[in-house]
Amino acid sequence: MEEGLRVILTKEEIEAKVGELGEILSREYEGKNPVLISVLRGSVYFAVDLSRKISTPFTLDFISISRYGGGSNPFGIVRITKDLDVNISSRHVLVIEDIVDTGLSLNYLLRNLKTRDPASLKVCTLLNVEGRRIANVPVDYKGFDLPDIFVVGYGLDYKEEYRNLTCIAEFKGGEEK
Ligand code: IMP
Ligand code: MG
Repeated sequence: MEEGLRVILTKEEIEAKVGELGEILSREYEGKNPVLISVLRGSVYFAVDLSRKISTPFTLDFISISRYGGGSNPFGIVRITKDLDVNISSRHVLVIEDIVDTGLSLNYLLRNLKTRDPASLKVCTLLNVEGRRIANVPVDYKGFDLPDIFVVGYGLDYKEEYRNLTCIAEFKGGEEK
């Protein structure tokens, strides 16, 4: 492992957890034909692996949001930069996130999706950083709780780098969160 990176979750630990979540979600959404919404771009790796472990039919779609002001301004404006292609009205919706940190992006996204009248709206995140929460967002399914550290790998980046790591590692000297 490169200097400055410390493995937090191995490939095997992630795989096992994704399998567990897939089983839970397969039961939960049996016969409901849910819409799985992957939040671009970080959650794509998780969403693809998780969806392969879901044994009941679903629709997969993508949405992209961006927050202006970045890490230095947590209250920056959020906007949708790529919207869904499917109509989620009366559908059971599951938002798939890589990490819920301050919760600000997710809070905006959930409020926006609610206006489209889904039959239900839930959240599944691989990583949860409760200690940094600013917006009180519901997390219905989660993989791992993390302390307040900056992580990369398995879709998560630092300036677009490290998304392709198969493990999740702490990035030291990462940006101030
Ligand atoms: P929020 O603070 O919950 O709004 O998180 C917004 C987004 O910031 C997440 O969906 C990630 O894309 C990114 N993010 C938050 N924490 C980390 C981290 O530790 N590493 C990499 N990206 C992160
Ligand atoms: Mg994200």
